[in-house]
Amino acid sequence: MSQRYYIVGNWKMNGLRSAMTEARAIDRAAQRLPKVEVAIAPPATLIATMREGVTHIGVGAQNCHMAEKGAHTGDLSAQMLREAGADFVIVGHSERRADHHETDADVKAKAEAAQSIDMGVILCCGESEAERDSGEAEEIVARQLAASLPDGCQRLSVAYEPIWAIGTGRVPQVSDVAAMHRRLRTVLTDKYGDAGADVRILYGGSVKGDNAAELLAVPDVGGALVGGASLTADGFVPIIAAAAEQD
Ligand code: PGA
Repeated sequence: MSQRYYIVGNWKMNGLRSAMTEARAIDRAAQRLPKVEVAIAPPATLIATMREGVTHIGVGAQNCHMAEKGAHTGDLSAQMLREAGADFVIVGHSERRADHHETDADVKAKAEAAQSIDMGVILCCGESEAERDSGEAEEIVARQLAASLPDGCQRLSVAYEPIWAIGTGRVPQVSDVAAMHRRLRTVLTDKYGDAGADVRILYGGSVKGDNAAELLAVPDVGGALVGGASLTADGFVPIIAAAAEQD
């Protein structure tokens, strides 16, 4: 694939203004490593500050509402997030599916809301540990992805994140990542035809500086969605550097 690797930090519910020191250091590293497309999704409260404080990285949101506006106390629409400075939004993260009971249909609607105003979308999918142990993980995640995909694939990336690998320090076998990404690629080409071949599929779940090179070298891994290790430049920059060193 000729596209750049896409390395995205998901800061989750972490980051006050003081964390801009880290964001600026990550931004400087991204300037030195232009072969890699780098982005951070900070908490919504930091989007505007981060957009003003960095120049070489994308800034995104971690969720949006599917409606344009209305009586949804505490929620934010894609338009609001874009106006604040977000260029993309993560949808369907397993923590939102679990904590906020988001269904595949909700995730699809959120992705379409973002695409309708030309924001990028990173759509997450992945299996639980019990689902992995059942031997059915590929079928289950393929079904989840197919039901969550928006109707069009403009500015779309997918993130495969096994739930049991998130924040645990455990990562799947490289062969399992390869098999899953191959399976998800067929879901994308079944839905979008040839255009589905260009949708980047990121791997997420305990990506660190010392395992990034191996994971990024897997065929059909187009980047990484990184939680814990993206919170500091010391943790995140080695992952960006590992992507820069891939052929
Ligand atoms: P982690 O999180 O890198 O801390 O495992 C990844 C994610 O949830 O996106």
